[in-house]
Amino acid sequence: MGGYDEVYAASVADREGFWLAAAEALDWHRTPTRALDDGRPPFYRWFPDGELNVAHNALDRHVAAGRGEQAALVYDSPVTGTRLTYTYARLTQEVAAFAGVLRGLGVVAGDRVVVYLPMVPEAVIAMLACARIGAVHSVVFGGFAANELAVRIDDATPKVVVSASCGIEGKRVIEYKPLLDRALELATHRPGNCVILQRPQAKATLGPGDLDWAEAVASAAPADPVPVKSTDPLYVLYTSGTTGKPKGVVRDSGGYATALAWSMPNVYDVGPGQTIFTASDVGWVVGHSYIVYAPLLAGATTVLYEGKPVGTPDAGQFWRVCAENGVRSLFTAPTAFRALRKEDPEGEYARQHDLSGLRYLFLAGERLDPETYHWASELLEIPVIDHWWQTETGWPIVADPAGIELLPVKPGSPTKPLPGWDIRVLDANGAQVPAGQDGAIVAKLPLPPGAFSTLWNDDGRFVDSYLAAFEGYYLTGDGGRIDEDGYVFVMGRTDDVINVAGHRLSTGGMEEILAMHPDVAECAVIGVADALKGQLPRGFVVLKAGVDDSAEGYGAGLRKELVALVRDRLGAVASLKEIDIVPALPKTRSGKILRKTMRGIADGLDEPVPSTIEDRSVLDALRAVLRGDTR
Ligand code: COA
Ligand code: AMP
Repeated sequence: MGGYDEVYAASVADREGFWLAAAEALDWHRTPTRALDDGRPPFYRWFPDGELNVAHNALDRHVAAGRGEQAALVYDSPVTGTRLTYTYARLTQEVAAFAGVLRGLGVVAGDRVVVYLPMVPEAVIAMLACARIGAVHSVVFGGFAANELAVRIDDATPKVVVSASCGIEGKRVIEYKPLLDRALELATHRPGNCVILQRPQAKATLGPGDLDWAEAVASAAPADPVPVKSTDPLYVLYTSGTTGKPKGVVRDSGGYATALAWSMPNVYDVGPGQTIFTASDVGWVVGHSYIVYAPLLAGATTVLYEGKPVGTPDAGQFWRVCAENGVRSLFTAPTAFRALRKEDPEGEYARQHDLSGLRYLFLAGERLDPETYHWASELLEIPVIDHWWQTETGWPIVADPAGIELLPVKPGSPTKPLPGWDIRVLDANGAQVPAGQDGAIVAKLPLPPGAFSTLWNDDGRFVDSYLAAFEGYYLTGDGGRIDEDGYVFVMGRTDDVINVAGHRLSTGGMEEILAMHPDVAECAVIGVADALKGQLPRGFVVLKAGVDDSAEGYGAGLRKELVALVRDRLGAVASLKEIDIVPALPKTRSGKILRKTMRGIADGLDEPVPSTIEDRSVLDALRAVLRGDTR
């Protein structure tokens, strides 16, 4: 194999050959004879005649190859003081047993199972158990409120929901069962059963139709892997779009497994028996791909960490986990490093541990600011690899491919596109812009294996949201540029999606919630730059005519109610804490709220006043609010 240029060129010159060769890394029940089915654009399918089982490839295959006693999963939980190692043999057994529980509850291939679990091994076991019997899991992040869970239950219509009595968030115990019960009251769909993992920190009261995880597993007969079509869905993962209705990203089986298996040695430089620590959450795509599937497909060891980078109990936990497990690649979000830097600017904690095994730091989920890049590089003296991807893409689009060749770094750029990704920058008319010029970042169709195949039950929205803007291209929703050396710079979302502490959220969704308040006539939520979380949402509301706001403390009271409303409907993770009551919102003459202009002013930029503005004085008043001259 050559360097980056040769590998990328090979993937372009012979796409079929390149991906069929990559697919050989897996065990196929029926080996694919073709890579790409492009007979029904814009819907592309990978390995159309292949059949496999992804859980078999992640587990049984390694046991059969003699790796049964190797660590597959290390559960490290500073918040409960637990450390557990699952060998490949044990993880296979536990997954087979839970697959038996699901099968006993009538779950068959194609049925959906919603998984609402904290960062415990049972989350990984539940996901792989679904994959084992061909069921489609849909994991919901624990930080989402009952209403968000209900929306996902109604869309995915699961036969079973798997949850726990509680999660542990820093020092707080968060009871999950009441959240699940509330979600089921709000949802119209009725799952047949709920399986509840009882944790000692809080016991849940089980109702009719609820099963205790431990009891159910004790009496279940293990289930064998069921071969599925490569094109069958492995999971649905909901992500924030521009409205309050989340998008159910559908991931296929064979294409995804192939892309992940390719990425482990080539991008992350992690092979069988080596350890990767992805400090994310199984509720996000990073967790799906690089806590669960990719490391296990590669026969590596994955670390499942239940805790935060700081405060559980200190800023030394990442380093302790790396040292204790001989971690080779650490993967997290830049925000985690900003949190570490704030707490431990001199890197004292890092120096207390033997990090000689740590070869790379991978960062993704939001833009890596050059300051954080330099701090991490100087602290660790290893390559710090920024890479860009999305829930939709399933694996990185642009990354320095550590296992092939480390490209020279330009801070602020995740370097160059990986094989399969033909990345372009277009202007508003769909014309490619010259090198160095900003525009919309798009990927030429077909997308490589691993990327989403559609949105759950909604081909129309898939096309409208992603493919309609520029024919033949996938609209990433990110803006940026490609320089004359082919380096991609991703500068931020061009839509109403924001990234708060590496969590993807919809400002449109928050606006829908604020608008529910009886006193609110209209509102806008924008993402403003934040030194720790990258971005934070900030809301602006205009009161309805006739609302009596003269009472003392009215404004403070309303702001509190609105903050609580968003927390209650969307979840604590929204982090919407700042809301201003303003007389009017700046708009164009055609009535469009000038969110981009507001964002620019909030970020302290010298934002030009659009010529289409309806009333300039409204913008001036808002500028004063944003500068803190008046509240
Ligand atoms: N369950 C319940 N609540 C959750 C939660 C979960 N799984 N995850 C977050 N929350 C809550 C937090 O407790 C917090 O609540 P609060 O407002 O009452 O304090 C709120 O949601 C916001 O959480 P977060 O944005 O994570 O802020 P934080 O101050 O708790 O932690 C960081 C800040 C930077 C340490 C943390 O966000 C972090 O580690 N980020 C890395 C993110 C990441 O891995 N992203 C995945 C993409 S790679
Ligand atoms: P998610 O779907 O939650 O993974 O969020 C995807 C979004 O996160 C992208 O559309 C980008 O806006 C942002 N993002 C992820 N990785 C990077 C990166 N390396 N640089 C800049 N933005 C990133």
